[in-house]
Amino acid sequence: MIFRFDFGNPFCTEAVTKEIPAKTGLEAEKEFSVYGELSLNTGFSFKMSLQKNSVIYGFGQSMGGINKKGRKYISYCTDDPVHTEGKDSLYGAHNFFIIHNPGEKHTDLGFFFDYPGRITFDIAFTETDRIIISAEEKDISCYVIKPEGKNPLEDITRQFREIIGRSYIPPRWALGYMQSRWGYRTKEDIESVYENYTKAGIPLDSICMDIDYMVEFKDFTIDGEKFPSFPDFVSKLKKDGVRLVPIIDAGVKIEPGYDVYEEGVKNNYFCKKADGKDYVAGVWPGRTHFPDFLNPEARRWFGLKYKVLTDTGVEGFWNDMNEPAMFYSDEGLSEAVEALKNTDLSKLDINGFFAFKDKVTGIANNENDYKRFYHRCIQNGKEVTVNHHKIHNLFGYNMTRAAAEGLNEINPSKRFLLFSRASYIGMHRYGGIWTGDNSSWWSHIKLELSMMPGLNMCGILYTGADIGGFGYNASRELLMRWIEFGLFTPLMRNHAALGTRDQECYRFENPEDFARLIRFRYRLIPYIYTEYMKSALKNTMYFRPLSFVYPEDMDCLEIEDQLMVGESLMVAPVLEPNSTGRNIYLPEDMIEVRLTNTEEIIQTEIPKGRHYIKFPLDELVFYIRKGHALPLAKPAMRTDLIDFENLSYIGDKEVIQKAGKEGIPPYKVYIDDGFTTEYKEI
Ligand code: GLC
Repeated sequence: MIFRFDFGNPFCTEAVTKEIPAKTGLEAEKEFSVYGELSLNTGFSFKMSLQKNSVIYGFGQSMGGINKKGRKYISYCTDDPVHTEGKDSLYGAHNFFIIHNPGEKHTDLGFFFDYPGRITFDIAFTETDRIIISAEEKDISCYVIKPEGKNPLEDITRQFREIIGRSYIPPRWALGYMQSRWGYRTKEDIESVYENYTKAGIPLDSICMDIDYMVEFKDFTIDGEKFPSFPDFVSKLKKDGVRLVPIIDAGVKIEPGYDVYEEGVKNNYFCKKADGKDYVAGVWPGRTHFPDFLNPEARRWFGLKYKVLTDTGVEGFWNDMNEPAMFYSDEGLSEAVEALKNTDLSKLDINGFFAFKDKVTGIANNENDYKRFYHRCIQNGKEVTVNHHKIHNLFGYNMTRAAAEGLNEINPSKRFLLFSRASYIGMHRYGGIWTGDNSSWWSHIKLELSMMPGLNMCGILYTGADIGGFGYNASRELLMRWIEFGLFTPLMRNHAALGTRDQECYRFENPEDFARLIRFRYRLIPYIYTEYMKSALKNTMYFRPLSFVYPEDMDCLEIEDQLMVGESLMVAPVLEPNSTGRNIYLPEDMIEVRLTNTEEIIQTEIPKGRHYIKFPLDELVFYIRKGHALPLAKPAMRTDLIDFENLSYIGDKEVIQKAGKEGIPPYKVYIDDGFTTEYKEI
């Protein structure tokens, strides 16, 4: 059961696709106050009491653990490349959460605060038994979801997912291993990645192209000197089942004569300042304009530009810098220069020094800059001008929507790969996300694990982190351990920053160890694809916290380093360096599956309870639930070559034997062509 309460004059974000009648005015205030203390005096403020043992799930892409208690989360899409523990905001804004009161099923509640500006969720941080939500304006739509079925957590999630529309479904090849690096500058660089993966016998489906493929970082251009006869290159690789995935950035370079710039200026497609001039911000290409993705005409124009690349045979894209990231604005630069000039250095005390320094370091991604430009949006059928800051969190969402709608117009029956950095709930219908500029830190494997269920609750299923870490240098051990978790994430991409240690698997000693792991990913793809399609078509989660599956088991509430993957599998990766094992908790008897370093698969029944499990670096260990069996395909170097018909099975022997006797497969694999939007029933 879903209730909607509208306060003030909420901006229609189109996060929710289902018509839900809203309570408004005094009636809304009265009825919403049943859940907590509401105040609309200055902006929006809402305080809810929590029980001591309440557990909070949700918030999509955010810091913190699986249980979100004890932190603040600020939804304000942010280009912050250093995800240390104290950070409150990342690239996404996912204002959905569930309050779970263990043992008291009927009191669990889901909440979605559909608000496109800055909103703060203080989750038992300032006060240990309260949630405090505050936003600058009172214009907000609040949704409350009450569970109906037996399992409140799964039920709330399903109901929420039903109202926000079906999640994006990628082409099947997008489940293959993807290699990326900021620093592949030429065709030869990319060829060398392809050749080295082939030589090392490591499966690979795609290679991402970072900003260097463009002419001076100009969107929808290809540098013909570094990438001569690009369409031939695309088709040569594609013949061998490897696809190129170029990046597209939000900012359009200001350069007379550059068609995208010229068209944008001429048609008023760029965001404008109060004085009507196009807004200027510095990003990779230097001074740029931002397309007004909130304006349907500008959105269509930008979306159709992707044709420049699809015409060369490209079938996938990643949209970046779309918070939007801003290294500087013209105004910000001038203000800083002015302030520095006006500083009397002879009187500079220590506070003055730091203020002086902040004038420069605070230029990038400065919130004041987000207040300096406007969008032309359609609300209730009328054109309105809205300050960017008020709807900041919708920018990346609408850039990816522009791409998805454009690609759909270019080829309506084709599935394109599309993933974004910034997002808001609603964007999950158009593409996936990668989790941005993480680091080669052990804690970031764990961070990825914690984020996955929250993202799935918000509909974002096609997701994963930069495996091996983006910033800093990855060790061989870290990369291997990361792959041991990452081989279960739908988006499986190894990506690294310019200037960091080379991180392709073949750069490390004994690449065969990596090959074995990634080969196993490919063997699992019939399972991964089937479970993905189930989650997308039935509004369920691909990654679940254990407590969602075992709601009666109170021990599961504290398990922060294991996850259920699909309906049958559980992972418990090693998250520490120099470890050859770890403690795990089995909520029921399970079958341990061990892929040895000689590529044998050993299956052992392990009873419910706590165990110390040996998990050496060169093995892979995971668990299958009793009563479940998993399909395994034969090893393949490309997803296109995976044989979905000839499968073997691992897991519960009885299930496999019984199915054998009955002549039916013990696991129902989802099969379709993998390329078109002709999805099958599941
Ligand atoms: C941003 C992206 C990163 C990319 C870099 C250069 O930092 O998050 O993935 O490599 O820009 O384009």
